[in-house]
Formats: sequence, structure tokens, C-alpha cells
Amino acid sequence: MTVIAIDGPSGSGKSTVAKTIAKRAGWAYLDTGAMYRAAAVWAERAGALDRPEVLPQLVRTMPLKVPLDPGDQRIYLGDEDISELIRTSFVSALVSRVSTVIPVRHVLVALQQQIVAEHRAAGIVVEGRDITTVVAPDADVRVLLTASPQVRLTRRALDQLGQADAAALAATEDEVHRRDRDDSTVAEFMTAPPGVTPIDSSELDIEQTVQAVLALVPVS
Ligand code: DC
Repeated sequence: MTVIAIDGPSGSGKSTVAKTIAKRAGWAYLDTGAMYRAAAVWAERAGALDRPEVLPQLVRTMPLKVPLDPGDQRIYLGDEDISELIRTSFVSALVSRVSTVIPVRHVLVALQQQIVAEHRAAGIVVEGRDITTVVAPDADVRVLLTASPQVRLTRRALDQLGQADAAALAATEDEVHRRDRDDSTVAEFMTAPPGVTPIDSSELDIEQTVQAVLALVPVS
């Protein structure tokens, strides 16, 4: 049926929008960022964060169960539910050390492409940083979701800390801007390449952003 690929920096709203679309359509939903976060947990536990040369093989053997139900995004390493752990600022601060290792990306991109191939017929929404360009450049809909730096910081602070006062914004700064700087060394997600539609969500609410993406779905 359809593959919808949504890239964007942190705080752009892509997870909420992607999940909402998948839920309504009854499609699968793949959060590729969660896979990189799980890989960071796995690597940290193996004491391998400072040994990029062993990371690809380590990530290949990670017993990850990737959730595809937009209504149930619990994620497991073996029998352990790591859903909450991967959202902590501890893991957010580590993840770029894994996600910027190119051979690690090759391992996870291959896995993501396999998942997309398996769910293409039924419909899938995939979000990340390199979905429109590397994972699924042939997706039916390719969107780069952006928002102003201030809006992204405010959203992330509200998300993580429940408030957006000066202290909350300062505490979230590393997670948004430093991480985006590091991540953009390996994936281009700040400007839309040809064929990818940029949507600026700074002034849009969730529903308006969902509608802006759905307006791009080809009528069959
Ligand atoms: O979307 P997120 O914040 O949960 O992503 C976690 C990290 O994974 C982020 O620092 C960038 C990285 N990432 C990536 O490099 N490529 C993707 N397709 C998705 C995420």
C-alpha cells in the first residue's frame, strides 16, 4: 500500500505525527531512533562505547524486539523491557556515540529496510533522520519535518520535564541542539533534499501537521 517516511531533528514532532498517522490508518509504525537508543544501552552495558571497532558486531548480536504497533511501543532487549530506560537523559546523552559510527548504521539500516519490505504491502510509517534518503528513498511520501530551534527546545522540555521555564530549557539544551549537531554529521536532516517535502511545524498543532503529511499521500 504505502510507505510514509518522516525525517526531522529532535523536537520536530515527528514521533507524535508518525504514530498518529499509523494508528488512524491501521498501519505499522517504526521508530528508528528507538533502535539506536537500544543499541546505545546494549553497547554501554558491554563497556564498548569507546570501542567503535567492536560496535557493529555487538549491535548485530543485540536481542532486540522491535515494536511495530503504534499503540504499543514497548521495546525489549531479550526479556527486559527497556522502554523507559531508552527515554532517559542518560541514554539520550550516549546515543550519538553509537549512531555516528557508520558501520553501526549499516547494520541497523539493513534491519530497518527488511522491516519496511515486510510491511510495505500493509502500510508503514517510518521515522528517523535518514529514512527519506537512505532507508526508504523510494517511499511513497517523503517528508522532512522541521520547527524553529526555540520551538523544538520548548517541546522537548515539556515532553521530558513537564515544563518549559528557563531551568528546564537549559537542562534540555544538550539533548536537542548538541545532539542534532552531532547527528547531522552522519545524516542530512536539516534541509530537504530534492524529492523530500519540507513541512515546518513551528506554527502548526499536531492535527494540522498530520493533515499536512496526509495531503501528500497519492490518491490510489
Ligand atoms: O529520534 P530520537 O531522538 O529517538 O533518536 C535517537 C538518536 O538516534 C538520535 O540522537 C539520532 C539517532 N538516529 C539516527 O542517527 N538515525 C535515525 N534514523 C534515527 C535516529
